[in-house]
Amino acid sequence: MKKYLVIGNPIDHSLSPKLQNWWLKENNIDAKYDKIKLEDHEIKNFIQTIKEQKIAGCNVTVPFKKTVIPFLDKLSPEAEHTQSVNTITFDNGHLVGHNTDIVGFDSAIRKLNFSVNGKKVLILGAGGVVPSIIFALKNMNVQEITISNRTKEKAENLRVLFKDLKILEWGNLTDFHMVINATSLGLNNEKINLNFSSSGNDRLFYDVIYNPQETQFLKMGKKLGYRTENGKTMFVYQALEAFKLWHRIEPKVNTDTFKLLDND
Ligand code: ATR
Repeated sequence: MKKYLVIGNPIDHSLSPKLQNWWLKENNIDAKYDKIKLEDHEIKNFIQTIKEQKIAGCNVTVPFKKTVIPFLDKLSPEAEHTQSVNTITFDNGHLVGHNTDIVGFDSAIRKLNFSVNGKKVLILGAGGVVPSIIFALKNMNVQEITISNRTKEKAENLRVLFKDLKILEWGNLTDFHMVINATSLGLNNEKINLNFSSSGNDRLFYDVIYNPQETQFLKMGKKLGYRTENGKTMFVYQALEAFKLWHRIEPKVNTDTFKLLDND
């Protein structure tokens, strides 16, 4: 039986095993998908176990999306550009790092019927998933992307990958059509201390967090009368893209898929 894994730290919250195992069963694939918590110093040996074919493939989550890169043989162009890997395949003796977060975010936004073409986007946070979100937004021809992060240096580091980012001091606000919470604030019901107010714009409040389904940030957006969306669709579509890479089959996404994740 083939074995797949998601690695991260923390990893308890991950719903990847639930979704991937459901799709494996649905497609009659004899494989199992588990989660494992690793420490930084264990990454190198872990990657070696994939090479030895003890593991058929893996997903990578925070904080290892960049850490794994030096140990891989090749990167997809998207993984290279974002310096972020969330899926590893083993193809013809080569370990390849892919980034399916980009497709995940892109699919989620396209399904929303909210055009970001020519719009201003404000991203809160500069962690693991932000380069992928920026990459996807640029492909959607947004007018301007502003990053605001508690640690300003991390936002500035993103300029190495994406030259024309605007940086905003944490705690301040600027004009936007779409605001994205990519911080971990909200996972434990925390509020984000920003004074959002109503404007004439059609706005979207998007949270990468999907568990809880409605963070304080989304509640605030809703209260102000704006559209809101959590990260569940992004999560499902990054998983779908990884499944396709490993098994060459496109799994089904329907209301049951989302219900499965709601039950947690
Ligand atoms: P990582 O930074 O290891 O990639 P992440 O979960 O992807 O982890 O990112 C966490 C994000 O939430 C970061 O942008 C972090 O800001 P810092 O770079 O300053 O650490 C942000 N974050 C976490 N706790 C926060 C808090 N109490 N206030 C503001 N931002 C916070």
